[in-house]
Amino acid sequence: MTKILVTGATGQIGSELTLVLREKHGGENVVAAGHKKSPHPRLAETGPFVTLDVTDRAQLEKVVREYSITEIYHLAAILSASGEQNPGLAWRVNMEGLYNVLEVAREAGISRIFWPSSIAVFGPKTPKENTPQDTILSPTTMYGITKVAGELLCEYYHRRYGLDVRGLRFPGIISSETPPGGGTTDYAVEIFYAAVRGEPYTCFVRPDTVLPMMYMPDCLKATLLLMEADPRCLRYRIYNVTGLSFSAEELAKEIQKRVPGFRVEYKPDFRQAIADSWPRTIDDSAARADWGWKPDYDLPKMVEAMLKALRRRKERGEL
Ligand SMILES: NC(=O)c1ccc[n+]([C@@H]2O[C@H](COP(=O)([O-])OP(=O)(O)OC[C@H]3O[C@@H](n4cnc5c(N)ncnc54)[C@H](O)[C@@H]3O)[C@@H](O)[C@H]2O)c1
Repeated sequence: MTKILVTGATGQIGSELTLVLREKHGGENVVAAGHKKSPHPRLAETGPFVTLDVTDRAQLEKVVREYSITEIYHLAAILSASGEQNPGLAWRVNMEGLYNVLEVAREAGISRIFWPSSIAVFGPKTPKENTPQDTILSPTTMYGITKVAGELLCEYYHRRYGLDVRGLRFPGIISSETPPGGGTTDYAVEIFYAAVRGEPYTCFVRPDTVLPMMYMPDCLKATLLLMEADPRCLRYRIYNVTGLSFSAEELAKEIQKRVPGFRVEYKPDFRQAIADSWPRTIDDSAARADWGWKPDYDLPKMVEAMLKALRRRKERGEL
C-alpha cells in the first residue's frame, strides 16, 4: 500500500500535486504537510493535513512513523527571490530540510522520493540556449547553490544507500490556483491576475527577458511520469525538463490579443540579474528519451487556459 507525504503542500505546486496524488492513490493515503500557511479547504477536506517544519527532524520522523509513509514528495523550500532576501533561511530550509528528508527516508526504508531541483542550478557560465543535461552548474543565488548541493546529495544517497530519489529541474511554473511563493519567474503568473482583474501590470523584468517556463498541467504530468518510470530506464537522478520559452513581451502580447486594452509597463528590479543568469531554452532530450516526456502546452494554448481558469475563479468571487 502506497502512503505518501507531501511537504510544502500549501505551496504553488504542492497544493495541486497533492490533489492529483489523492485522486490516484485515495485521499486518506496522501498526507499533506503545510507549514505556516493554512490549507485551502480542498486540501484540508480531501485527506489528512499536518503542520510540519522540515528543519525539525524529530517532527518529520513522527509524521513518517505515524502515517506509515512509503513515498515522500519533498516540495518545502525557500525560492530564488525570497532566498536572496534571506539567504540564511534559504540555506537552512533547503539544505537541512532535504538532508532530514533523505535521512528519515533512509532509516524508515522509504521506497521513493521526489525532490524538485530548478533551472537555478545554471548560471552565467552555463550555455544559455538549449542548455544540456550535463553542463556547467554555476549558480549565483543562494537558492541555486542549495539546488546544486541538493542534486549532489540526492545522487550520494542513491549511490551510497540505494535510495530511489528522483527529481526535475523545473523551469518557471505558471498556474492559476495558488500564487507562486517568491520566485524570479513570478511575473509570468502575476501578469494574468492583473489582466483578469482589469488592472495594468508592472513587470519586474525587461520586455526582452526570455526564460524557460511550464504550465502546471505539464508540471504535474512530468512529475507523475518520472515517478512511475521503470528504474532501469533512468540514466539520471535529476532531469532537465521544459515546456516553453518566451519573452515577457511575447507573453504580454499574447494576453493582449485576448484582453484588449491590457497595459503592461516594465520596471526591472533585483530579480532581473537573477533572470539574466539563467538559461533561455532547455534541452530536455534525456527526459524525452528515458521516460517519454513531452509537454502538451505551447504559448497560445497556455494563455488561453490560464485566462479561462482565472476568469472562472473571478466569477466565483475568489479573485
Ligand atoms: N514554482 C516554480 O516556478 C518552481 C521552479 C523551479 C523549482 N521549484 C521547486 O519546486 C518546489 C515547490 O515550489 P513551489 O513553487 O510550490 O514553492 P512555494 O513557495 O509556493 O511553496 C513552498 C512551501 O514550502 C513551505 N515552507 C517554507 N519553509 C518551510 C519549512 N521550514 N518547513 C516546511 N515547509 C516550509 C512554504 O510554506 C511553502 O508553502 C520547491 O523545491 C521549488 O524550489 C519551483
